[in-house]
Amino acid sequence: MTYQGLIHKYGHLLNLPSHSRTVSLLEGDTPLIKADNLSRHLGGDFELYIKYEGLNPTGSFKDRGMTAAVGEALGRGAKTVICASTGNTAASAAAYAARAGMKSIVLIPQGKVAAGKLAGSVAYGAQVIQIDGSFDDALTMVVEITNKHPIALVNSINPYRVEGQKTAAFEICDVLESAPDWLCLPVGNAGNITSYWAGFKQYDEIKSTGLPQVLGVQAAGAAPLVVGHSVDNPETVATAIRIGKPARGEQALQAAEESNGQIIAAADMQILEMQKMLATLEGIWVEPASAAGLAGLAQEIANGKLTMKGKRIVAVCTGHGLKDPDIITKDMPKPKIVPPQLDALEEIILG
Ligand code: F0G
Repeated sequence: MTYQGLIHKYGHLLNLPSHSRTVSLLEGDTPLIKADNLSRHLGGDFELYIKYEGLNPTGSFKDRGMTAAVGEALGRGAKTVICASTGNTAASAAAYAARAGMKSIVLIPQGKVAAGKLAGSVAYGAQVIQIDGSFDDALTMVVEITNKHPIALVNSINPYRVEGQKTAAFEICDVLESAPDWLCLPVGNAGNITSYWAGFKQYDEIKSTGLPQVLGVQAAGAAPLVVGHSVDNPETVATAIRIGKPARGEQALQAAEESNGQIIAAADMQILEMQKMLATLEGIWVEPASAAGLAGLAQEIANGKLTMKGKRIVAVCTGHGLKDPDIITKDMPKPKIVPPQLDALEEIILG
């Protein structure tokens, strides 16, 4: 049967109110790609799969939660949605609001949002407002304004976002026919790790698929869950997870603890190195934040803290590389220019 989107496929497993409507761009159903080259590079004694969430309609996993949250907001008669965002939530909210015939307002931290995300929000018709502050400041403001005005909040503190995002765990279990041994993923505002854990637990209850151990990875300069307190001035090249006060931090820590997993930090250098490895070894280009989960995994394997021999690991790659082209092009050597003549081309290729 033709794929008709997440709500159509998994709606019966999601806790959505009866007034919810379906607003879909056929999100989800993303590929789980076996990454043998990278696995070999990291030691080779385990099976590694990439859940390539950058292939969702707006280029990130946010579409899973947004189909549910915007559908609920539409059903209860809301005319406008709002979110704070490091970029991907904003683009996704804007697209789904457009689809639903609603207005969208997005608050982003000034100057810290990657080009592809800002362009997306503008293209989908959002009212984009820059805050002279961090994501955390922007989130506080959207909570305040939605308490005062009838505007629907679609950040992941909205429970329907979590409901929608659980479907990624369902898909992984459906493809592998059980949960993996380990799931590694980046952690920012901690909605995604919360959703995966809820999804795996639900599927285990109804289908006995088992549970993974969860490795959540923050960027070292924005790692409140690792240092044990909020971070006032988070800084990282992985701007998507440049967050100092995660809204679902407690639930992230609980997911790590209950799953016998961990939340760790990876340095920017390691994140960028992993981004490059994924692209050059596997042909999978993701934005920096999306490489954080794998960077953390590589670090734990290299320093002998985790043994993965014989294990099946799924790494969640949350957003497409096209979201942040500048990170690649800003320091690259300019490609050589040759005249349109064969001998000039031969000289440059053959030396
Ligand atoms: N990866 C990407 C590409 C993201 O955009 C985000 C979050 C995360 C990982 C972390 O997910 O917040 O659920 O822990 N981006 C949000 C945004 C904050 O506004 O787009 P999380």
